Amino acid sequence: MPSQQVFNTKDGAVYTTSNGAPVAEPYAAEKVGPNGPLLLQDFHHIDLLAHFDRERIPERVVHAKGAGAHGYFEVTHDISDLSCAAIFNKVGNKARATVRWSTVGGESGSADTARDPRGFAVKLRTEEGNWDWVFNNTPVFFLRDPAKFPHFIHTQKRDPQTHLKDPDMFWDYLSQNPESMHQVMILFSDRGTPNGYHRQHGYSGHTFKFVKENGEFHYVQIHLRADGGFKTLTNEQAGQLAGSNPDYGIQELFNTIEKGEFPSWTVYVQTMTPEQAEKFRYNVLDLTKVWPHKEFPLRPVGKLVFNENVQNYFAEIEQSAFSPSHVVPGVEPSADPVLQSRLFSYPDTHRHRLGVNYQQLPVNSPIVPIANFQRDGPATFISQGARPNYQSTIQPLTYKKKAYAGVQHEVFLGSAQLDLIEVTELDFEQPRALWSKVFDDGAKERYVQNVAGHLGNVKSAEVKARQLSVFAAVDQGLSDRIAKAIGHPTVQPLKVKSANEARRFRADVGKFPELKAR
Ligand code: HEM
Repeated sequence: MPSQQVFNTKDGAVYTTSNGAPVAEPYAAEKVGPNGPLLLQDFHHIDLLAHFDRERIPERVVHAKGAGAHGYFEVTHDISDLSCAAIFNKVGNKARATVRWSTVGGESGSADTARDPRGFAVKLRTEEGNWDWVFNNTPVFFLRDPAKFPHFIHTQKRDPQTHLKDPDMFWDYLSQNPESMHQVMILFSDRGTPNGYHRQHGYSGHTFKFVKENGEFHYVQIHLRADGGFKTLTNEQAGQLAGSNPDYGIQELFNTIEKGEFPSWTVYVQTMTPEQAEKFRYNVLDLTKVWPHKEFPLRPVGKLVFNENVQNYFAEIEQSAFSPSHVVPGVEPSADPVLQSRLFSYPDTHRHRLGVNYQQLPVNSPIVPIANFQRDGPATFISQGARPNYQSTIQPLTYKKKAYAGVQHEVFLGSAQLDLIEVTELDFEQPRALWSKVFDDGAKERYVQNVAGHLGNVKSAEVKARQLSVFAAVDQGLSDRIAKAIGHPTVQPLKVKSANEARRFRADVGKFPELKAR
């Protein structure tokens, strides 16, 4: 024990300098005399200031505001016919999980109830390494060409001069990129304002591949369905809460878990063989489309439960680093170009946000030992001891040796990439189904009002007219109702090619006869 008088922190620990020396007076700087200048020898004071000056790390460039918890994933159904991932080799297998939910566009202090998609990121710590599910609470996205992502996100960030958000930028983008319409239908529906982070579903959105040891694969989409249902707020409730309690979502989550009411999800997969993908009405690589449940039913896989609040938000949630490229053997990305782009973007931003050794931070570190030839760098915590920097022979995983034999399918994938370029009538079918079949009268009226409340703030008449023409391509009545609500004349639908016309054109130009067959 230290000989001098000591100051105890709340938990009874002796207050120390960062090198572990006890400090008797943490609230006083050392001076030459009672009025004298400060002393350079006062390591405690200098270190305190220097560390304080470096307390902030960059917030996430998107999804900056969020909440999280810990829990587990448990396999409840045998899907070993789909994937050789070790986690699926036995019903009852469990993986410790960490979740982070988030809004997308706002800064880390922005309101939890903003109308925005929600991120739903889960880290599963399996015996074969970490498998991250970096999902959203919507099954589709605004775009299918990743080059558009930074531009689209900038439309929701602050204007460089006014430092204000600008509805003209937002709708200017959407009106010129009508493949966004499916997501716009969901965003301005009741689901655009979920009631808290833990009362909503999650979706992979992208198509992934589940792969067997013999190299055969199925395309899959993963669905996380909240056992308590998807609960929403009205636009008015969300707006009021944004002012009165911007941290509503964080608070609800923390209190719910503290009370022992653990939120849970049932995990399902939709599956499709490569042959089915070639005949599918929509493009399996198209992130703006869903797979109809009747054709591709949900198959149960497991349970996801979050039963543990964090001890330290910064260490366990802010420093968490999720990436769709963190997969395990038996799971692979599809050729969806947006997914392919994300595989790069996340680890890249983690290296910027957390440093090159972000995978070694306790929350990100796998439960299995790391063995590779990566070396050193700032903040290396996990040493690989005397393992050499180079070794001549590495044993490959067996299933990787056997490539899928479907050569024709590779040709199909080439044509499917081309298929993503153009907006056609096909792009309005699923948004139209939401409007005409899923929304009841009340939901329709709320949708019109929610859009009008936002689009009505746009100054440019050109942008308003263009967006109304996109709504008219979904349904003329929908567009007319929005036009009336914002005091704008009615507008004719945007003219687009039929899907077959577009495909015939690309089949000839791209010399992909398979396109015609679809
Ligand atoms: C966060 C990029 C599309 C879900 C992020 C971050 C970046 C990013 C740079 C910040 C990550 C961090 O700082 O840790 C992109 C790009 C996209 C894209 C380039 C498209 C080209 C998507 C899509 C989804 C999604 C389609 C869902 C299906 C998420 C989630 C987070 C996130 C859940 C928050 C992760 C967390 O809580 O740490 N994205 N994103 N993103 N993104 Fe994306």
